[in-house]
Amino acid sequence: MSQPATRERVFSGIQPSGASHLGNYLGAQVNYVALQERYEAIYGIVDLHAMTTVHDGEQLRQLTHDMVLDLLAIGLDPDRSALIRQSDLPEHAELCWIFNTVVPVSWLERNPTYKEKRTDGIDNSNGLLTYPVLQAADIVIYKATHVPVGKDQAAHLELSREIVRAFNRRYGEIFPEPQAVFTDAPVVLGTDGVKKMSKSAGNTIRVFDEPDEIRRTVMSMVTDTQRIKRTDPGRPEVCNVCQLHRFFGGDYLQIQDGERTARTGCVETKQLLAERIIEFFRPMREKRVALAAYPDHVEQVLAAGLAKVRPIVDATMAEVRAAVGIGHTRASSR
Ligand code: TYM
Repeated sequence: MSQPATRERVFSGIQPSGASHLGNYLGAQVNYVALQERYEAIYGIVDLHAMTTVHDGEQLRQLTHDMVLDLLAIGLDPDRSALIRQSDLPEHAELCWIFNTVVPVSWLERNPTYKEKRTDGIDNSNGLLTYPVLQAADIVIYKATHVPVGKDQAAHLELSREIVRAFNRRYGEIFPEPQAVFTDAPVVLGTDGVKKMSKSAGNTIRVFDEPDEIRRTVMSMVTDTQRIKRTDPGRPEVCNVCQLHRFFGGDYLQIQDGERTARTGCVETKQLLAERIIEFFRPMREKRVALAAYPDHVEQVLAAGLAKVRPIVDATMAEVRAAVGIGHTRASSR
């Protein structure tokens, strides 16, 4: 991609609802790192969103801290990007409320993620229904135009755009329509080989786990369920282990061919995948261990991020409050 004339802004959010996993990394985090080179990038640890599933205060605080470490370890540079904790900027929730007065409930009820989460038995709170409205507020409070996310978030991004259009129609052209930036990874499936890899489904490969734990997790993965005997030909197109090899070595076509012709068995293909994942994430795991030795560092990074974004949020909210007719109309002097 060529250098944009003025540095456009990127925002993305990640929930501190569990440890970073392969789906997060391949679907989104890899682009967080790539985009910080060319854009003004802001990344939010969206703890208010995580409250829809994490109901223990101590645990949420710890998971938020841990997620900052994960993001630094994968290569986010706090001198380039702003890392923020969503709840440090209550204006995200304020803008969400303002959007709530614009968004018809039917848009939220037909949202596929909401329907899935309800089927998965996650508490059906009003917060779960309003989740994508807060997500839209997160993005546009920074007037971000690009949003690196996994393909599972396509519907949420479309909804963000609809919300922006509805708001702008009512109050004037205040917000740009954000667009999703995807990696070339599909929605990554979990170790069960069926459902999306997700912290709440408990089917993740956690990239910062110790090597033995990664081995154990990968060896537990479900492969082609129709391949019963070692000599049966495999179907790499339906085998999640084979699919994941695509991202960890240039020889995945040979690996897939080995499975298809039964030259190789599922066990060795899994062993190889585990070792490659371990090696790929080794430098990041080591960096994370080193960073974790300085617990104050995380709060310093978040304070620096907050200082960077505070003027942006103040300016947007002054414009929004003036347009909708609430509060005072000057930018806050905080
Ligand atoms: P979260 O924490 O569930 O996921 C963080 C990022 O990881 C991507 N991802 C995946 N990509 C591919 N395959 C998977 N199995 C997989 N699992 C997760 C997600 O697409 C996401 O990019 N709703 C957001 C959080 C959010 C947000 C925002 C994102 C809140 N506000 C504003 C962008 C902009 C989410 O899914 O988080």
